[in-house]
Amino acid sequence: MTGTGGRRRRGCTGGVPHWPVPVHHPGVSLPAPVPSPARDRRRPVFSRLYARISEGMDAEGLGELRSELLAPLSGRVVEVGCGNGRNFARYPSAVTGVTAVEPEPHLRGLASRAAAGAPVPVTVVPGTAEALPLPDAAFDAAVLCLVLCSLPDRAGGLAELGRVLRPGGTLVFLEHGLAPTRRLRAVQRVADATVWPLLAGGCHTAVDPVGLVEQAGFEVTALRRLRFPDSRVPLPAAPHVLGAARRPA
Ligand SMILES: C[S@@+](CC[C@H](N)C(=O)[O-])C[C@H]1O[C@@H](n2cnc3c(N)ncnc32)[C@H](O)[C@@H]1O
Repeated sequence: MTGTGGRRRRGCTGGVPHWPVPVHHPGVSLPAPVPSPARDRRRPVFSRLYARISEGMDAEGLGELRSELLAPLSGRVVEVGCGNGRNFARYPSAVTGVTAVEPEPHLRGLASRAAAGAPVPVTVVPGTAEALPLPDAAFDAAVLCLVLCSLPDRAGGLAELGRVLRPGGTLVFLEHGLAPTRRLRAVQRVADATVWPLLAGGCHTAVDPVGLVEQAGFEVTALRRLRFPDSRVPLPAAPHVLGAARRPA
């Protein structure tokens, strides 16, 4: 995979540095964040709504999928768009540290609280997927969980993940995407063109996560398609993929 030097943002543009106070874990060193301009994406209504509904979704089965997603990970992990930190409690002990990036300030605050109670060291930093404030090749693994659908520049975000992952590093993803049936795809197109992105924090449903991961140069090594929630009438965001991919060495 080639580098993405054009996308890197280094050096403050001035103003107040926008770093969080990391949660301290004696003896553990995480890759140091690279200073970058603050990139807050405020979604005051969505963030509060998501903080509430994500608990219920986890209880309905999403929590188990999160555990399945994270189980194979080890070493230094970057999680992009961590939201309120619902994954943090589920990292396996083989993970030596997590750097979690979140652009929405309310969710980031909740994530910082979740980080304090996590079983592995977690540091939450502001930033966007498209301009990760992190050094090159610093991580063994990356996590994308329900995030690609919300990115304004999905290819840019995946290129950034390729930059911060070491060669041979692992990307795991749990994402919703394109429906398998024409009928539900038609519903997705209508939803995307109308209320869905407004209600769901910029999310779009007719997205092809696996195609995007492959186009970014990753090799998909595991893939499971599933429906969540598994309701009788499928919702536009019900078709999901849970998988893993490798950054070529
Ligand atoms: C549906 S939530 C998922 C949150 C979390 N990953 C989880 O599994 O619960 C989507 C998340 O993507 C974040 N997001 C939106 N745009 C982003 C961007 N450009 N870069 C990184 N994260 C972004 C949102 O702030 C939100 O936290």
